[in-house]
Amino acid sequence: MDTFLAVASKREVREYAGRPIPADATQRILEAGRVAGSSRNRQPWRFVVVESPSLRERLAEAVHVSANVRGAALVVVVAVSGRGPTAFDAGRAAQNMMLTAWNDHIGSCPNGMTDPDAVAALLDLEEGEHPTIVLTFGYPAHTRDPFRREAVEWIERADRKPFDEVIQRL
Ligand SMILES: Cc1cc2nc3c(=O)[nH]c(=O)nc-3n(C[C@H](O)[C@H](O)[C@H](O)COP(=O)(O)O)c2cc1C
Repeated sequence: MDTFLAVASKREVREYAGRPIPADATQRILEAGRVAGSSRNRQPWRFVVVESPSLRERLAEAVHVSANVRGAALVVVVAVSGRGPTAFDAGRAAQNMMLTAWNDHIGSCPNGMTDPDAVAALLDLEEGEHPTIVLTFGYPAHTRDPFRREAVEWIERADRKPFDEVIQRL
């Protein structure tokens, strides 16, 4: 898929079909996170793939929308540590993973946590390491074909602030 089309047509998917994500697609998603650039190339992250059903359930209880985690085929917690712009770094890795998933027609959604400390304890994160976001992935329950529209049309339909409000030229 063309990168601009992938960016323009990617909407968050919160309802997933039951079918699993193939191993090669999972590998691409995780590699896309791993290869992301980061400040001073520190790569301040670990990506924790939560597979255990009991851990999944406890994680579901620690995010804002539990159903997103419960219904997902793949759940990845982005954990970061150390100083520097770690939130920015984590965002780059997360978006790489979500766009790579979308390239395989796999939907995704970032999930905020109600209790990040509880998530850190649950995942047995290391000292100084904290979870920034919980990414859920899965084939969309309601399929949406990105090729159905041009990128500009996807953008026109997106619920976003107007161009002139966001972009300033000096
Ligand atoms: C840091 C962050 C946290 C988010 N947390 C949640 C969340 O807890 N639950 C959820 O359903 N969506 C969550 N989202 C998704 C946003 O609601 C979504 O990106 C925004 O509404 C645009 O959605 P759209 O691309 O489908 O239009 C989060 C997004 C970000 C970037």
